[in-house]
Formats: sequence, C-alpha cells, structure tokens
Amino acid sequence: MMKKLMIAVVLAAVGMQAVAGVGEDRQRSFKKMLLSYEPIGVMLRDGPFRKDQFIKHANALKLAAPVPFTQFAPGTMDDVSRAKPEIWQQPARWKQEETRFLQAVSALQAGAANDDLATVRNKYNAISQSCKSCHDAFRGPKK
Ligand code: HEC
Repeated sequence: MMKKLMIAVVLAAVGMQAVAGVGEDRQRSFKKMLLSYEPIGVMLRDGPFRKDQFIKHANALKLAAPVPFTQFAPGTMDDVSRAKPEIWQQPARWKQEETRFLQAVSALQAGAANDDLATVRNKYNAISQSCKSCHDAFRGPKK
C-alpha cells in the first residue's frame, strides 16, 4: 500500500515536471531560430551582405523553423509559457499562421543562392511580418 502510494507520488512529480518544462522547451526552440534569423536581419540592415553567410543562415533557419510547431500538444500552458489558449481553440487559424511562416522561410532559402538583394529583402520582410502576425494573435504577455 505504502509502496503504491510512493509510486503514485513519484509519477505525479514526474508528470508535473514534464508539463512545467514545455513552455521553456518551446521558447528554446523559437530562440534557436533567432541564431539564423537575426544575423540575416543585421546583414540586411547594416551590411555588408555576405552571400555565403546568408546561404548558411537561410539553410539553418529552414531547419530550425518547423521545430517549435511540433511542441504544441493540446492545452500545454504553464508558468513560463506565453502560449494563448486560442492556439487550440482556433486550430485552423493557427495552422494557417504556421503554414504561411514556413512557406516564407522556404521561399527565402530556395532563392538564397540566386535572388538579388531586393528580392532577399522582400522575402525577409515577409518572414518578419509572419512572426508578428502570429505573435499578435497567439502569444500572450511575458510572464
Ligand atoms: C505560428 C505562430 C508563430 C510564428 C510564425 C512565430 N512565433 Fe514566435 N512564438 C509563438 C508562440 C505561441 C510563442 C510562445 C511559446 C510559449 O511560450 O509556449 C512564441 C515564442 C517565441 C520566442 C520565445 C521567447 C518569448 O519571449 O516568447 C521567440 C524568441 C520567438 N517566438 C521569436 C519568433 C520569431 C523571430 C519568429 C519569426 C522568425 C517567430 N517567433 C514566429 C508563435 C509564433
């Protein structure tokens, strides 16, 4: 009896920990995107534009971009997470934001070797607008 109770307590603690970590895990995945998204922005704003560096970052962004969207299991909000309940209440709208974002990232990466600077700028701006559009709808204030 005592042993069963102990196991139940341990399982509950492990379960709580898993939930407590999910917001942090997601935020970490989003922050990984910054490692490539930000240097591209700096290059475009302040120069110099280095094509080889840009291609490297565009490839890394393409790999990092889908990861956070695999981490939104239904209703996973915790003390750290800024996820709004609308993510799960309006799944079609959420999916649309995600799809638009991933398409914008793919477009940047697909043209990285050949696009002229004006096109790169436009594609980068489309990504930035997508970040903002989704945050406005689905990310709450910092906790
Ligand atoms: C489809 C929706 C969506 C898109 C697109 C999106 N984000 Fe987010 N982002 C979120 C949500 C929701 C969170 C909050 C996650 C949590 O706390 O559980 C978040 C969290 C973050 C965080 C973690 C730190 C914090 O303060 O919340 C960073 C950094 C971030 N996003 C940057 C970006 C950038 C940069 C882009 C575009 C390159 C982007 N995001 C695109 C929805 C999105």
